[in-house]
Amino acid sequence: MTPAPVIVIGATGDVGSAAARFAEQHGSSVVLAVRDLEKPVPGLSAAAEKAGRYERVQIDLFRPDTIEAAVRTTGAKRAFLYATLGSQDIVPDIIGALKAGGVEFVVFLSTVSIATAGDDLSQVGPEKYIPWLHAQYEIQLEKTFGKQGYVALRAGFFSSNMRWYYGGIAKGEVRVAYPDALLELCTPEDLGRVAASFLSQKPETVTDEPAIVLSGPEPVTLRHALEIIGTVLGRPIRVVRVDQEENVQEMKQMLGDATARTLVQEFVERETAGDDVKRIIEEGAVNMRKYAHGGQNMEKWAQENKDSIIAALSGSG
Ligand SMILES: NC(=O)c1ccc[n+]([C@@H]2O[C@H](COP(=O)([O-])OP(=O)(O)OC[C@H]3O[C@@H](n4cnc5c(N)ncnc54)[C@H](OP(=O)(O)O)[C@@H]3O)[C@@H](O)[C@H]2O)c1
Repeated sequence: MTPAPVIVIGATGDVGSAAARFAEQHGSSVVLAVRDLEKPVPGLSAAAEKAGRYERVQIDLFRPDTIEAAVRTTGAKRAFLYATLGSQDIVPDIIGALKAGGVEFVVFLSTVSIATAGDDLSQVGPEKYIPWLHAQYEIQLEKTFGKQGYVALRAGFFSSNMRWYYGGIAKGEVRVAYPDALLELCTPEDLGRVAASFLSQKPETVTDEPAIVLSGPEPVTLRHALEIIGTVLGRPIRVVRVDQEENVQEMKQMLGDATARTLVQEFVERETAGDDVKRIIEEGAVNMRKYAHGGQNMEKWAQENKDSIIAALSGSG
């Protein structure tokens, strides 16, 4: 019997696209659920998509009926899911649509900030919007699918967030309120690799835990990460500590006020994080080495992305 396909909701995203590509490499048929049927999937050429076990369906996360229809018509049994900003009021509808369509297991991209906030999901309040939003998804996934019916990949800070500092890197000076915050530095590619192994049910990744913390294999401080980028690019980068409000004002141009405030606050708190938070980050690194079979550290990420960073810098500055 042909195995049921897996559905990746948000297949044009960085993590979603990697999850789709690796799941196909593991032998799964993959439904690329996208809101724009014409948009390319990163890392997948049109020719490779045509030659591979892929099909596309259109969905809009803000219209759960489109999710249910996509699952039902493709027969997908496993799904990759993002928490989309602004979706807090329809979380039960989105997750209910997956279940009603026939999904049996969900791989949800969550955030480590839930774990660092204390691990009791019901205690995370909406003033901490990002962990709270993801907590709403995790709570609902457990209600709808049960502990064995989903896995929440509680990812830490992405390496790809280094783009927030490209303007400063271009000028040779990065101004931040949290230079010594320890950051997980997960690559979207590695997260996609982990997601895919759960989508394709590779036996070595079977776990009883519904939530897994994931960090890059070698977490470092922001200061150190910038030093690594400076070395790879062959240009000095000065790191200057600024107050929180200046940092929020700069980040809100990229992320909006609420997200910028939550993140800057969270990273400032990271500078004085206790051993419990450091332990969570280290546990994430152990998990990444296990589930992504090694994982990419900051230096490797910077080397591999050197050309695209240089191209982005020429447009910043
Ligand atoms: N950045 C971090 O440090 C960090 C840390 C922990 C967890 N996370 C989690 O990771 C997520 C970001 O992952 P990423 O970088 O892979 O994201 P991304 O590249 O921005 O991709 C997001 C995907 O969601 C799709 N999408 C957005 N709104 C949609 C809608 N209404 N209907 C259908 N699809 C929709 C996008 O489609 P389009 O291509 O059409 O826009 C895209 O495919 C965050 O939102 C958070 O949940 C991030």
